[in-house]
Amino acid sequence: MDFKHIVVLTGAGISAESGIPVFRSETGLWEQERIEDVCVPEALYRNPKKVHDFYNKLRRNLKDKVPNAAHLALTRLQEEWEKRGGTVTLVTQNVDDLHEKALSHDVIHMHGALRSIWCPRCDKRFPFEGDSAPGDVCPACGAPDLRPDIVFFGEMPYSMGSIESALRQCSLFISIGTSGVVYPAAGFVQVARSVKAHSVEFNLTPSATVSAFDKGIYGKASQTVPEFVESLLKGSYDPRSEN
Ligand code: APR
Repeated sequence: MDFKHIVVLTGAGISAESGIPVFRSETGLWEQERIEDVCVPEALYRNPKKVHDFYNKLRRNLKDKVPNAAHLALTRLQEEWEKRGGTVTLVTQNVDDLHEKALSHDVIHMHGALRSIWCPRCDKRFPFEGDSAPGDVCPACGAPDLRPDIVFFGEMPYSMGSIESALRQCSLFISIGTSGVVYPAAGFVQVARSVKAHSVEFNLTPSATVSAFDKGIYGKASQTVPEFVESLLKGSYDPRSEN
């Protein structure tokens, strides 16, 4: 079997066709709010209500959203690959729940998740729906510091040890729907290259790290990703082909 161990990194672009906004586009989230107002630790001290309300709105927007063909293709790949004795490690920068709704398993949310709330005092996390507010009390330790379980800029992404070890064992690295401007995720392709893995990016347009990839396949993820998965499962994918 080619590519026994696969690592997939997804970004906001995989969820765009499901109606979840991306960050960097003319209508992206970072055109509506400033990162320094809602996605840095200091914002929680400066204007906690604005931070909570920003993520409350994103969380509410999740309710009626469903996975698209790209999410479902990754679930199919994970299932089939495991049946053949391989592995697919799914790492997402996204905080939505569409990979879970697509029934992918062991999804690594390196930037956190909207449907989780975190107590920085006792470091416990809880499944969470609804709205949070400044002063919400932690059910475990009673501290009034519950906050959205989102990794802010300047904070350490989650599960970096597991991600690093999966990258070091992979023979295929796939990146889907990310602009490649935020590290450490944007550097994962370099780790994959260092272990001679084949690397492919799927995007609407070349990402900032396009030169590091062996191949780029451009178009809507709901079309390009299912086609790619199909070719992998049929054994007809040719790494040397143009696309
Ligand atoms: N199919 C494929 N790619 C798409 C689609 C689509 N339908 N729609 C958009 N894209 C691509 C865009 O071309 C863009 O390169 O998805 C990418 C989205 O880029 P960003 O909005 O920057 O999102 P992302 O790369 O996930 O951001 C990374 O930045 O703000 C932080 O923590 C936040 O996780 C986020 C991180």
